[in-house]
Amino acid sequence: MTLFETLVSNTIKEFKNQFGVEPKWLASAPGRVNLIGEHTDYNDGFVFPMAIERQTVVAAAPLEKGPAKVFSVQTDEMVDIYVDGSSKPPITPADVKWSSYVQGVVACCFEAGLKVPPFCAVINSNVPLGGGLSSSASLEVSVATLLETIAGKKLGEKQKPLVCQKAEHSYAHMPCGIMDQFVSALGQKDQLLLLDCRTQEPKMIPLSDESVSVFIINSNRKHELTGSEYPERRAQCHEAAEVLGVPKLRDADLMMLESARDNLADKQYRRAKHVISEDIRTQAMAEALIAGDWERCGELMYQSHFSMCTDFEITTPELDLLVSLARLLGVEGGVYGSRMTGGGFGGCTVSLVKTDKIEKVSDFIRKNYHAVTGIEPTIFATRPAQGAVAL
Ligand code: GLA
Repeated sequence: MTLFETLVSNTIKEFKNQFGVEPKWLASAPGRVNLIGEHTDYNDGFVFPMAIERQTVVAAAPLEKGPAKVFSVQTDEMVDIYVDGSSKPPITPADVKWSSYVQGVVACCFEAGLKVPPFCAVINSNVPLGGGLSSSASLEVSVATLLETIAGKKLGEKQKPLVCQKAEHSYAHMPCGIMDQFVSALGQKDQLLLLDCRTQEPKMIPLSDESVSVFIINSNRKHELTGSEYPERRAQCHEAAEVLGVPKLRDADLMMLESARDNLADKQYRRAKHVISEDIRTQAMAEALIAGDWERCGELMYQSHFSMCTDFEITTPELDLLVSLARLLGVEGGVYGSRMTGGGFGGCTVSLVKTDKIEKVSDFIRKNYHAVTGIEPTIFATRPAQGAVAL
């Protein structure tokens, strides 16, 4: 059985265990990894993610009366979810729980006209929680997909990720961009998604060369975050765009940035430099990937990491170490490139690795990372996976 088949079968088993009947509906949505284009989405720029072979699965059946009952395998907890539009968002970020995401999606779908009768459901996931692989987007999109199945009616292709993003903004107090929900909803097997976050037009680019693998390494180090880091970066980008006199940093270029340098605070300058240069790298990476120029792709990934480390300041010593170890191996040793992926401040790196060197790369990084940090990293290879589906 594949990982996914095992996840589905365990979810069905747990559903019967909790509710004593067979589920009537099943839906799933994947986590994601971003190859390049970090913190560019809310600046209307470019991102280049793919769905990964790690999913959240929801099994459900009708319930006679509300509220809906939803059980999470991960937290071993049953919660009430209001399907009649009567729910209220958590008041502060500290009040946000996993169930806030579910309630948020149900409420925002209700608002968007996707209304469902009461149901009972089990949610199960193998997307690492808090690892920067969008466990929350996979939860949101799997629930939205389930609601579509129950209602027998679909949200629009772009509307679904936007509804999920709205749920995250209003019910999880997280002002995220659109990347995670888009790729979780629209990802396709063996395809990367180049997304222009302004037009929101997805462009699929095949990753069919089997000699190259996408490697994800979880630093397994959680940092004490106040939760204000992401909104703070977002605000700094917004301020920089204002000083530059453009609607979004997407509309600025490096020349404009340099000529306005004296008017920008140091942090604003460096945040903008990352975003503007990352947009250039992301488009360059898509071109290099289409041309099969893996060394160029790798070089752009290292540049991106360096920019996130020095200018955007969102990496951690552990992520920097993982990238340095990858670079030490180099192309000869089987690694084309590596960088931190996701929101930052912990989580995972993504690397492009020669498929026939996977074992060696994995052993080298595991051993040396552990020797320095005392932490065992989690390492897995993945191909671009299918986005959300009703099963
Ligand atoms: C988080 C957000 C995304 C994006 C990334 C950084 O994953 O949810 O919208 O901003 O961080 O690229």
